[in-house]
Amino acid sequence: MDSISTKNAVVYFNSEVYTALNDYIKTVQPSKIFVLVDSNTHDYCLPKFLQRVESGEIAVEVMEMPNGEEHKSIDICTGVWEALSEYNADRKSLLINLGGGVVTDLGGFVASTYMRGISYINIPTSLLAMVDASVGGKTGVDLGTLKNQVGVINEGEMVGVDTSFLDSLPQNEMVSGFAEMLKHGLIYDESYWNTLTHLENLDISDLDRLIYDSIDIKNKVVTSDPTEKGLRKILNFGHTLGHAIESYFLENADKTPLLHGEAIAIGMILETYLSTKMCGLSQNHLETITNGILKTFSKVTITKADQEHIIELLKYDKKNSHGVVKFVLLEAIGKPKLDCVVSNALIFEAFDYYAR
Ligand SMILES: NC(=O)c1ccc[n+]([C@@H]2O[C@H](COP(=O)([O-])OP(=O)(O)OC[C@H]3O[C@@H](n4cnc5c(N)ncnc54)[C@H](O)[C@@H]3O)[C@@H](O)[C@H]2O)c1
Ligand SMILES: [Zn+2]
Repeated sequence: MDSISTKNAVVYFNSEVYTALNDYIKTVQPSKIFVLVDSNTHDYCLPKFLQRVESGEIAVEVMEMPNGEEHKSIDICTGVWEALSEYNADRKSLLINLGGGVVTDLGGFVASTYMRGISYINIPTSLLAMVDASVGGKTGVDLGTLKNQVGVINEGEMVGVDTSFLDSLPQNEMVSGFAEMLKHGLIYDESYWNTLTHLENLDISDLDRLIYDSIDIKNKVVTSDPTEKGLRKILNFGHTLGHAIESYFLENADKTPLLHGEAIAIGMILETYLSTKMCGLSQNHLETITNGILKTFSKVTITKADQEHIIELLKYDKKNSHGVVKFVLLEAIGKPKLDCVVSNALIFEAFDYYAR
């Protein structure tokens, strides 16, 4: 498969990941190589990865962090900075982040700040990290409950997407990442959306090419709008309500938390309904999109009381300006519309549509 060039880096696929990585190591000759993993990627991905890396005389040190979003914190960064220091990492050291979005976001931030910045390479191992976190150069950590509150934008030297790592990824995590692929279809490319919704199951051999296409779409959107002023906002489709639903389910002790993609799937159905009312999306499209999403994502019960709390949470959406909640909606598949303002009454209607 071809590689994809981002603003400052290149995304390599499958066996080419190791050719490019080994070339890089040979040419640059880092003083030391550090590999950051979490407890899962330590067991499932690291052995395979180390087998294919040719480091020659250069020492390779592995650093392990606990898995899970709750560890995407400054405390863990401190631990990693200290470990780098103890192992005498210097300005010429290389950090390789092997893991899901938590490891690649945190590791990218640690590398960007250690000694004012050392080189890093991301090897995403979850579907979400492959299709969503692998381009754009966003790194960072959470500050308590505030997601991605501290960080920098700084692309690594390269990204390596080896889809065979997905063999060990739990099914619910696969499904969660798939939501972002569906989103890429809805905001950018109707034929891509059609292909995704006609898949019989999420078989990795079928997904291979589609993962490539998804990264390509995200890259086109991001590179056309590096300062996040316009087009890039289309990536928020499904995320205005989706994020509020995700936070509500996370903070409410009576609810089982939803994975990011599970919440975004609900957000996309709700925002598709809003699109029919606000920007002329056809009824036909509404049905097709709803059915396409529900083929993979089961319905979640959201009571009237839940809905009120969720709407309340929209106030905290990072993308608001001057206290006004702005949605990305769809005029058609592949034709998003920015900055739509929607009444609460219509949002309640959207929840009724979702529940029917
Ligand atoms: N930088 C960006 O542009 C960007 C974009 C989207 C999301 N993100 C961030 O990514 C994070 C979510 O990413 P995620 O869903 O990958 O979460 P994650 O890193 O927590 O991974 C999900 C789970 O899967 C496990 N895992 C990962 N790869 C595995 C494999 N191959 N086999 C077995 N288990 C594996 C992890 O240990 C973890 O338990 C969030 O923090 C989000 O903010 C960043
Ligand atoms: Zn998302």
